[in-house]
Amino acid sequence: MIGRLNHVAIAVPDIAAATAVYRDVLGGKVSEVVEQPDHGVSTVFVELPNTKIELLEPLGEDSPIANFLKNNGSGGMHHVCYEVEDIDAAITKMKEGGARVLGGGGWKIGAHGKPVVFLHPKDFCGTLVELEQV
Ligand code: CO
Repeated sequence: MIGRLNHVAIAVPDIAAATAVYRDVLGGKVSEVVEQPDHGVSTVFVELPNTKIELLEPLGEDSPIANFLKNNGSGGMHHVCYEVEDIDAAITKMKEGGARVLGGGGWKIGAHGKPVVFLHPKDFCGTLVELEQV
């Protein structure tokens, strides 16, 4: 069911510093910083030939990545995002398999304007998984 790796997300305490590392040290092609108040994060995308890296910095009071950064002060890998063709079918399959679908069990429009859902890390080898309909 899962398709391409859409992106790997890395939570960081300082997105300008993280962007500089990806641009200047690793030589990556980086986007501008985009504030996403609806999602409680600021994002930068690093375009790679086969996928993307999503740098995430907390934005606002109730950022969903605030706790993660409390436990991982210098940042860390936050989630992986796999593409699916049909998000409703994917959610049904996850629930049938006993996996916990976060955020009330339905999809939302994600940071890239497409339907996404997050799955509980304890059901997926300790990794927060995002599914995105493409
Ligand atoms: Co993501």
